[in-house]
Amino acid sequence: MDLIPDFALETWVLLAIGLVLLYLYETRSHGFFKKLGIPGPTPLPIVGNVLSYRKHRVDFLQLMIDSQNSKETESHKVLSDEEIIAQSIIFMFGGYESTSSVLSLITYELATHPDVQQKLQEEIDVALPNKTPATYDAVVQLEYLDMVVNETLRLFPIAGRIQRVCKKDVEIKGLFIPKGVVVIIPTHVLHWDPKYWPEPKEFRPERFSKNNKDNIDPYLYLPFGVGPRNCIGMRFALISIKLAIVKILQNFSFKPCKETQVSKISV
Ligand code: HEM
Repeated sequence: MDLIPDFALETWVLLAIGLVLLYLYETRSHGFFKKLGIPGPTPLPIVGNVLSYRKHRVDFLQLMIDSQNSKETESHKVLSDEEIIAQSIIFMFGGYESTSSVLSLITYELATHPDVQQKLQEEIDVALPNKTPATYDAVVQLEYLDMVVNETLRLFPIAGRIQRVCKKDVEIKGLFIPKGVVVIIPTHVLHWDPKYWPEPKEFRPERFSKNNKDNIDPYLYLPFGVGPRNCIGMRFALISIKLAIVKILQNFSFKPCKETQVSKISV
């Protein structure tokens, strides 16, 4: 078999031009990475090029880049290039993976709880009749949808635990925690504690109804963490998830198939 494809001369010329352009794109625009001492085509060309080209966009990445030139260095710590890359990676993995996992878990719960799915579809159809395209204002008013999303996040907290480093020696209720110790907050355990969540393995959106949710201790329900370092993407994630569910349920219903495994979680 001939290993070299039988292309016309023009095709080879175009391919060669393409390769040269790609090489220039990957190397010349990487002044950013070169400053870090990473030579040539880098392991992070996409982030690198986004950083080089998106100079005038007002988005989170641009804000991080702008923060490097901020004059307010007394109240704000300037982000290093490495920190910007690290944040960008967190945004990609933390943002996409978590949201898509929650979406699949919601669809699983809807498929295995047809009564919940029907009630949710009814709510959506009343608020947005005849498949009216969803608006932000309409979606945030959907109470039952909020309950379904909250209950899924209780049952399956994407971050099974959160953690903090103790900044100074402290004593809390007789427990001494020295400075520097990493404290783990076991979200999963808290979300499944039968003392606070009767029959915690059961999927029951009613736990988050208007009447019930005021009785929920905010420190026992932590799908997005808590405090000044909680999930920065929480609102964005919630609205994306809700918009996706509305759009899908306006057009389709989920049903289990013979491969669907009905999990029996043990607590
Ligand atoms: C359903 C989706 C998501 C869940 C369940 C989730 C959950 C979490 C949790 C539990 C934390 C740790 C909070 C803490 O330690 O108190 C966190 C942090 C973070 N999340 Fe999310 N997240 C989601 C979506 C997103 C999205 C869409 C983005 C970005 C667009 C994002 C960006 C971040 C970032 C940057 C942090 C670190 C915040 C900091 O350390 O100050 N997350 N997330």
